[in-house]
Amino acid sequence: LLSYDLVLRGGTVIDGTGAPRAAADVAVSGGRIAAIGRLDGARAECEIDAAGLVVAPGFIDAHTHDDRLLLESPDMAPKASQGVTTVVTGNCGISLAPLVAADVPAPLDLIGDGGWYRFPTFRAYREECEARPAALNAAALVGHSTLRVGTMATLDRPATPAEIGAMRGKLAEALAAGAIGLSTGTFYPPARAATADEIVAVGEPLAAAGGLYCTHMRDEGDRIVEALDETFAIGSRLGVPVVVSHHKLAGRRNHGRSAETLAILAERMRRQPVCLDCYPYRASSTMLSAERVGQAERVIVTWSKTRPDFAGRDLADVAKSLGLGLEAAAEAIRPAGAIYFVMDEADVRRILAFPETMIGSDGLPHDARPHPRLWGTFPRVLGHYCRDERLFGLEEAVRKMTGLPAARFGLAGRGVVAVGAAADLCLFDPATIADAATFDDPDRPATGIAATIVSGRVVWRNGAPTGERPGRFLRREVTASPAAG
Ligand code: ZN
Ligand code: CU
Repeated sequence: LLSYDLVLRGGTVIDGTGAPRAAADVAVSGGRIAAIGRLDGARAECEIDAAGLVVAPGFIDAHTHDDRLLLESPDMAPKASQGVTTVVTGNCGISLAPLVAADVPAPLDLIGDGGWYRFPTFRAYREECEARPAALNAAALVGHSTLRVGTMATLDRPATPAEIGAMRGKLAEALAAGAIGLSTGTFYPPARAATADEIVAVGEPLAAAGGLYCTHMRDEGDRIVEALDETFAIGSRLGVPVVVSHHKLAGRRNHGRSAETLAILAERMRRQPVCLDCYPYRASSTMLSAERVGQAERVIVTWSKTRPDFAGRDLADVAKSLGLGLEAAAEAIRPAGAIYFVMDEADVRRILAFPETMIGSDGLPHDARPHPRLWGTFPRVLGHYCRDERLFGLEEAVRKMTGLPAARFGLAGRGVVAVGAAADLCLFDPATIADAATFDDPDRPATGIAATIVSGRVVWRNGAPTGERPGRFLRREVTASPAAG
């Protein structure tokens, strides 16, 4: 009689590769999947009845700002509650490490005030994560804006050769200590003056280390085609794969243009490795800035340092109560964060359905009134867009959040339900899975997630964290993974 640590009995396996579902039991031993099939005779220390449930690979959140959440709230409830088992941190040019700073400019303040920027090296950050593990795994990017803030006295100019050398050295240290790549955010003030040449020079260690390049591009509106061209050029000059972060078309003038951008992306993918992520909402969220306000149909304040009482309120109300115009009100309550309704639903759907699009929440876990994507992204794709709107089949939805990101981020042996793979799993009810977080009530955990399992240990069950902390720091491995197709 075979004996395992854990058996999930009677579920329907969707394996993350896009292959059709199949009824099977899944057995786990030593943190890995040990057997898949009819396991009637098998015994286990722990059995979970999976009847009526889908057994899928744990979801990989391809785009997060969870650098600090891993340390501060190791239960990782916003993500564990959605079935996420791995988060990719350090996106949009901002990572917590390496940087020691008492005070940081926006948007670095989205993930922490000065007190949290206390890691002189990436290794110091990784060691703290490993000394106090979280419930979920992490794969970490190094932010170019973080490197700039830690290296340059003024940010409104390209870096000098000496500064480039210093940033390159910090990136090399981080890659040696386990970072998976570099992120940039040339859209944002701390990196707006950075040229493509600067990024290519700073990113020089990526190719040898097998790292990748992720970017919140310089422009997601009128000049998006130029921004895509710059991104492709940087990727090919660096000789590394590119991830276009949270692909979107912002501003009414650009609505509908995803047909154009996805055609450009598809064409480019035949010549160099490019992929993209997106979140399933038509509103974005980031720092509050007056220049962005005019582009949006509606703006909601997510936090304000000077006026915390305004969190959750429409900027239009705030402006009225301050007796100011929208832009002046935005200036008056900074530093602050906001939600911007800037996208077209048809673009969101077209981008989500594109075969190379991964799912990334882009959630901002420290906002007082966060965008609902923080708690709702994955169940919203599976429930709203897949089951209710039939945008794609369930196997394809699961692939976009498991096998595809595991292959693109080089997370070997993850993102698939296969014998020998890490036992990172999500059990969910396909009939009831749904996002519960809304713009008015953004902190509500999703429904329909029965269990989230990391390395064979149950970290979330019956709507609550279990207290288990099996999370690991994952390195990028560029050998082919089972879901590389
Ligand atoms: Zn971004
Ligand atoms: Cu982001």
